[in-house]
Amino acid sequence: MKLSKSVETLSRKCIAFPEPCEIACYNRVEGGEVFFDDRSLRLFKRHITEDVGADLNEGYDTFIPKKDIGSEGFGFGDLLACSRDKNIPLQSWKHFITFRNNLKKILATAYIRNEPWEMGVHKRNGVVYLDVHNLPERPQSDLDRRRCYVGYCFESLATEDPRRADGEGIHHVDANVEFCSVIKTKLGAHRILMGAEMDCCDSTNDGKRFYVELKTSRELNYHTEERFERKKMLKFWIQSFLAGVPYIVIGFRDDAGRLVRTERIRTEDISQRVEMKNYCQGGVCLAFADEVLGWLSGTVKEDEDYILKFARPFNRLELLQAQSCPDVITSHLELL
Ligand code: A3P
Ligand code: MG
Ligand code: MG
Repeated sequence: MKLSKSVETLSRKCIAFPEPCEIACYNRVEGGEVFFDDRSLRLFKRHITEDVGADLNEGYDTFIPKKDIGSEGFGFGDLLACSRDKNIPLQSWKHFITFRNNLKKILATAYIRNEPWEMGVHKRNGVVYLDVHNLPERPQSDLDRRRCYVGYCFESLATEDPRRADGEGIHHVDANVEFCSVIKTKLGAHRILMGAEMDCCDSTNDGKRFYVELKTSRELNYHTEERFERKKMLKFWIQSFLAGVPYIVIGFRDDAGRLVRTERIRTEDISQRVEMKNYCQGGVCLAFADEVLGWLSGTVKEDEDYILKFARPFNRLELLQAQSCPDVITSHLELL
């Protein structure tokens, strides 16, 4: 099958994406136990600008990296258990159940064609599950691990931690502790239940919770700014837009890992900024994802397991049978 639609054609489509609605939440705490409440939700530290100059390598020696639970088969245990706990009817009105990262990969592929990815696809009782599949990674160098740690260190620095006394350094950052929001949303005609890890929230007086996405980036210069806006900003926008996160706070660092400045951006301002420069359009990502979800809905069969792959050098999405004949392509979607 061919997705013979150019960016121009996709940009003329108007795909509805109503405000995502949080219907439940859960947390994984130190030690791995899961609770269906908001005990791990962190509060954004408003005076983060005072931390400019901080060393984002601090605590690297005591960092507890993320355990790989997503790629070991059907990784929806906590999300489904939380939905059951809150009596959320899954089969009756959902078309897709997924973690936000999978949708992010699909939307980003409208523009980003040099990053391969894959995900598990299963259909149970009429609902299509998009499951996390990590590609085999090349061995990480100490520098790779440090670059990754900087992101987690910034999360700690930018949030209130009642257990950390004033002036106390950052240590024992545990990447497995997370707060996850369960969100109901709709993309075009596709009803979606989505789990999304939230970094922190900003307090408000009227009781409504505003989540804040935290990101780190190497400080920009004349040569790197365009790439940042074309690629990283697009990913930041997709990630936050999909879950209705209104603000992103970026911590810019130097090569040594020192925080040099922070910038708070409204998610909706990003799309204007990149659209004005003609880099990309959010509507094209949505129209592209609408086509892909429609193709999946019409192709996957009940109780069969597939792998959905985007791989170079072919500019196409491949749907492969996961078990019986893993190399046979069941269907593919050519991309323009
Ligand atoms: P940065 O993205 O600020 O570098 P998220 O921003 O999605 O909440 O992720 C928090 C941090 O987890 C990231 O911070 C990064 O350090 C790490 N991280 C997330 N996804 C990753 C991936 N695919 N590979 C390596 N590290 C990742
Ligand atoms: Mg996060
Ligand atoms: Mg983040």
